[in-house]
Amino acid sequence: MSQEATLSFDDKTYKFPIFEGTEKERAIDFTKLRSETGLISYDEGFGNTGSCQSKITFIDGEKGILRYGGISIEELAEKSNFLESSYLVMYGKLPTQTELDLFSDRVAENASIDERMRSMFSNYPSKSHPMAILSSMMSSLACYSPELATNDRAADLEGFDEAAAYAISKVRTIAAAAYRASNGLPMIYPKPGVGYCDNFLHMMFSEPYNDFEPIPEVAKALNLMLLLHADHEQNCSTSTVRMVGSGGANLFASVSAGVGALWGPSHGGANMAVIQMLEEIHASGDDGSKFIEDAKSGKSGKRLMGFGHRVYKNFDPRAKIIGSVCEDLLNKMGVSDPCLDIARKLEQSALADDYFVQRKLYPNVDFYSGIVMRAIGIPLNMFTVMFAIGRMPGWLANWKEVASNPKGRISRPRQVYQGATQYAYTPIEERA
Ligand code: CMC
Repeated sequence: MSQEATLSFDDKTYKFPIFEGTEKERAIDFTKLRSETGLISYDEGFGNTGSCQSKITFIDGEKGILRYGGISIEELAEKSNFLESSYLVMYGKLPTQTELDLFSDRVAENASIDERMRSMFSNYPSKSHPMAILSSMMSSLACYSPELATNDRAADLEGFDEAAAYAISKVRTIAAAAYRASNGLPMIYPKPGVGYCDNFLHMMFSEPYNDFEPIPEVAKALNLMLLLHADHEQNCSTSTVRMVGSGGANLFASVSAGVGALWGPSHGGANMAVIQMLEEIHASGDDGSKFIEDAKSGKSGKRLMGFGHRVYKNFDPRAKIIGSVCEDLLNKMGVSDPCLDIARKLEQSALADDYFVQRKLYPNVDFYSGIVMRAIGIPLNMFTVMFAIGRMPGWLANWKEVASNPKGRISRPRQVYQGATQYAYTPIEERA
């Protein structure tokens, strides 16, 4: 197979190397495109652009494959848990028992937040969006542990093991505290000796002198959901984290930017938009048929939320896993949710509809994860926060990969300017 691509224009021919990834994906190396030809490549939304070479996660969107460090998501969902998979994502290998114990202990030890930080939560207006609080608080960690956020690459990398466990632990505590603050509830301290997800549920839902004690399947489903979100290669938020990190910014500043990027409805906000859509359909008395027609026409501005993916063009393997867990969990909890019936109907109709089939639009992970969270009792405005807790190891791993690359350059894309050409400044009184 050719190892060079040829580009011809203006009677000249240029050659660019082609290289291959470990899964035989091929890419043209355009690093010297501008210096050799004067052109830049234009690829709005980066649909065809490899922004980096990475060892963290492999996705084959056509075949519906997702692997963390070489291990399939199906196998991890069956045999692993969130913390072990987080280690795999961040260190590129499964931990030994000693490594896992050390990592888990570090996560457990960091569950509390500084009392001065804790008092900040009560200063947000009630009903503040927990994503806004989460983003600010993740960035603020740099104020409470400045030794882990020096903006000196070598020093920040040296502290990575500590900082990563710290961030994975704190994001969960901050998330629960954000929920309680935005609902005017007193904060609940973490419980020593309790697992990652159980502790989160405790900090969210316990009341002083009255511990929340759900059936074990609840923490298990939550653990799985976080595991399924742990990394997803160069999505909008992870690319943001890499971009911020490429300028040398510390880990907390970088992941805080990731939280902001995740917030939008086309990305992490989609899980919330799915439930809003299902509730809207239910309230209108529609069984989903009318909504599908509206989404197809495009005129209403509606989309079938939880459907479609930039990368998966066959099925989203995470959606398959969470879909079956969703059904089981609701049965075990004895919850009957009309939204689940509508979701099933929407899925069946869309999968049999030419519009969705031709555009390769299938349910994505958000289609069912919203229903799982609703069953657990997590309020709608916390859905994207849950996604952020899950995605934290992926963001950390990507920050580390950027920071560890001695040849890494600051991310700085170019543009094709389409604005006004030069004209003279006019004094204000002469302007129309
Ligand atoms: N409902 C109806 N039509 C759709 C949908 C949808 N959910 N998604 C895409 N289309 C249509 C779109 O109108 C376009 O049609 P046409 O070719 O006639 O103009 C075609 O499909 C291609 O769409 P696109 O917007 O160019 O595709 P994209 O790759 O830029 O967008 C997406 C991917 C996920 C943003 C989009 O499918 C979408 O908005 N889905 C709903 C939101 C959602 O569920 N997002 C969560 C993504 S998974 C979580 C994550 O990894 O972040």
